[in-house]
Amino acid sequence: MHVNELLSLKNKVCLITGGEGKYGRCITEALAEAGGKVITVSPFVNDANKVVNEMKNNAPLDITVMYVDQTNHDSIIKLKEEIKAKFGRLDVFVNNAVLRPMKTYTSPLEQFSESMRVNATGMFDITREMADLIGQSGGGSIVNICSMMGMFGPDLSNYEGTGWDVPPPDYFFHKGGIFTLTRYLCRVLAVKKVRVNSISPGGIFANQHEQFLKNYTKKVPAGRLANNDDIKGVVVFLASQASAYINGENILMDGGMHS
Ligand SMILES: NC(=O)c1ccc[n+]([C@@H]2O[C@H](COP(=O)([O-])OP(=O)(O)OC[C@H]3O[C@@H](n4cnc5c(N)ncnc54)[C@H](O)[C@@H]3O)[C@@H](O)[C@H]2O)c1
Repeated sequence: MHVNELLSLKNKVCLITGGEGKYGRCITEALAEAGGKVITVSPFVNDANKVVNEMKNNAPLDITVMYVDQTNHDSIIKLKEEIKAKFGRLDVFVNNAVLRPMKTYTSPLEQFSESMRVNATGMFDITREMADLIGQSGGGSIVNICSMMGMFGPDLSNYEGTGWDVPPPDYFFHKGGIFTLTRYLCRVLAVKKVRVNSISPGGIFANQHEQFLKNYTKKVPAGRLANNDDIKGVVVFLASQASAYINGENILMDGGMHS
């Protein structure tokens, strides 16, 4: 098969959670630019519509916004039914949504629970339902968006001189969880012909504190944070047939920070 065809998502129905967020909008655009019929879902459909309309003003992309709150099982089932009715199938699911209720180590325990409702229980609920739909469609690909923080402990020197406290523990807990869940799902979903891989990005540039940027970038061989293009090729590769023989794998995308 020609390599362009291997990498193409033409006519593939691709679902992403939180597609209006920082990494989410890059992924949404990438899937659509590769030819996918993209559905982006979140509880904040107004925000999502705004982001998607901007993308569509720049290029003729096939992107639909739908509602889901991944903490609500009924909402996930409704989304599944809507995708079946409107698209008839699902080929790709990108697990990207995140909620960051905890701010630091001493944040209230209730915020740890709230985080798990979205980032652990909700994430698993929507993954299981969408894996079922991909299985009914004959198979496909799930891409979990993890983080380098799911693989390594925090580098506290990044926060020196910023006035920021240590990063929150829930994030390391659930990102480590989705990293390992990827390997579990790769085995369990093979029977449905669903591949499951993950990407563990480093920080994306978002006008962070100047001192943080200084601390961080001097440790990265690439000399910068991730930009809006960095994740695009990686996610299309893992979503497409180009990665047909890659399963249960994690791609660290940190500009060489942990080399
Ligand atoms: N921002 C970074 O520097 C960075 C670094 C490494 C990894 N990541 C990972 O990338 C992914 C995206 O991160 P981001 O910073 O772009 O996120 P973001 O905070 O910009 O957006 C998160 C999205 O999650 C969605 N969301 C929140 N609660 C939800 C719910 N209950 N149901 C469904 N959707 C919900 C929202 O719509 C929101 O758009 C996450 O998995 C994150 O862990 C981000």
